[in-house]
Amino acid sequence: MPKIDIIPAASGHLLAIKDIYNHYIATTHINFETTPYDDEYMQKWLQQFAQNSRHQAFVALSNGELVGFAMSQAFRPKPAYSTSVEITVYLTQNAAGKGLGKQLGQHLLAILATQDVHRVFACIALPNDASIGLHKSLGFSQTAHLTEVGRKFGNYYDVVYLEYKFD
Ligand SMILES: CC(C)(COP(=O)(O)OP(=O)(O)OC[C@H]1O[C@@H](n2cnc3c(N)ncnc32)[C@H](O)[C@@H]1OP(=O)(O)O)[C@@H](O)C(=O)NCCC(=O)NCCS
Repeated sequence: MPKIDIIPAASGHLLAIKDIYNHYIATTHINFETTPYDDEYMQKWLQQFAQNSRHQAFVALSNGELVGFAMSQAFRPKPAYSTSVEITVYLTQNAAGKGLGKQLGQHLLAILATQDVHRVFACIALPNDASIGLHKSLGFSQTAHLTEVGRKFGNYYDVVYLEYKFD
């Protein structure tokens, strides 16, 4: 398994994160955005995260090159939802399938275990066998299936929610 360094995301990582996002936005249904992110959006994106909070973002570096990122975000905006978060993991195409997603996910869950988080959700547009496989191997289990909830490229897509429980 390739060795990676996992560090908090910072402004110097935003161009590489944007490129990863925009690849999947432009070519796949796994992200329901339909237009690419720009630099202004990415600056705002970074502001939602803070160290020692429920909402954090990390990047994976392999020999100094950014090969992926993982984050926890607010699940829903209303305050009673605050102990629930949604996590997302993205790797470059070349980095997928080598165990790096699991390393990033385990790192993020270990951080979230130190915060006041009770439930962690992954929201996955189908099909996405790699994301389902990753989250099941991290200890998530499926809790909801929404049918044809999104439309992209003229096709409807189902979304499943997987949840991870902290006691
Ligand atoms: C989803 C993603 C982050 C998974 O990371 P990864 O590094 O490819 O996954 P890993 O190699 O760490 O594998 C983790 C587990 O998932 C399983 N898995 C990985 N790819 C799989 C696939 N295509 N089909 C089935 N299972 C798969 C592995 O067998 C492993 O299970 P194990 O721990 O029981 O052996 C990565 O593939 C990716 O970035 N995909 C594109 C972006 C994306 O879809 N992000 C998620 C949005 S919801």
